[in-house]
Amino acid sequence: MSFDSPPGIVTPPVEKYLNAILRPRNNVLNNLEKDAANNGVPIVGPAEGNFLSLMAMSCQAKNILEVGTATGYSGIWLARVAKENSGKLTTIEFDPSRAKIASKSFRDAGVADAVEIVRGDAKEEVPRLAKKYPGGFDLVFIDVGDKSLYAELIEPSVRALRVGGLLVADNTLWLGLVAVPSANGIETRNLREYNKRVYADERLYPVIVPLRDGVTVAIKLKNK
Ligand SMILES: C[S@@+](CC[C@H](N)C(=O)[O-])C[C@H]1O[C@@H](n2cnc3c(N)ncnc32)[C@H](O)[C@@H]1O
Repeated sequence: MSFDSPPGIVTPPVEKYLNAILRPRNNVLNNLEKDAANNGVPIVGPAEGNFLSLMAMSCQAKNILEVGTATGYSGIWLARVAKENSGKLTTIEFDPSRAKIASKSFRDAGVADAVEIVRGDAKEEVPRLAKKYPGGFDLVFIDVGDKSLYAELIEPSVRALRVGGLLVADNTLWLGLVAVPSANGIETRNLREYNKRVYADERLYPVIVPLRDGVTVAIKLKNK
């Protein structure tokens, strides 16, 4: 697996440039990148990891909710900012073996004291957390493997966010297929629906960033 954008989203020379200009990563991130490449773990990769940290810094995020932990790669990029701001990353994963690897990754990266792994199904856990902590999160990052959940996670995620907080979702250009009218696979349709609903939601001000597989970022403007 490579972290390059799928063909058609950005040109190969631009992709090469975006990856070459990145600062070196620590051993924990380097090892998780290698592990992802060897074992097909779908992590965000370094350019998007960098972007996630920037998003978290831009809203001075203390409390971050991540949906889809995998091995903890994107979580490290987010948790470092939360920890710096004396806050915490809450990250949801339903695969116990991945949650176990993530737990070790967070320890190795020195952020375990700023991370809570919620072992459960995002379908139930995001609404539960939104009810328990309405407006309690500064950033919600949706990267759950089951793309059919994306659209239904908008409502609880927006409830969980404070005004001024950011809703960030990965894979929203889906290999560029969302832009191909004849592409009608279930995941393409799910991601089109997510983008459509976010753009139609008056509480949100969104933009789709054509980084890697597409990242939709939206700021929460108001509660209603
Ligand atoms: C794309 S990976 C997350 C990658 C991670 N954000 C990163 O970049 O390092 C998606 C993860 O979502 C998990 N997942 C899929 N469906 C889920 C669900 N309904 N609830 C919780 N986790 C789920 C999968 O087990 C997988 O580890």
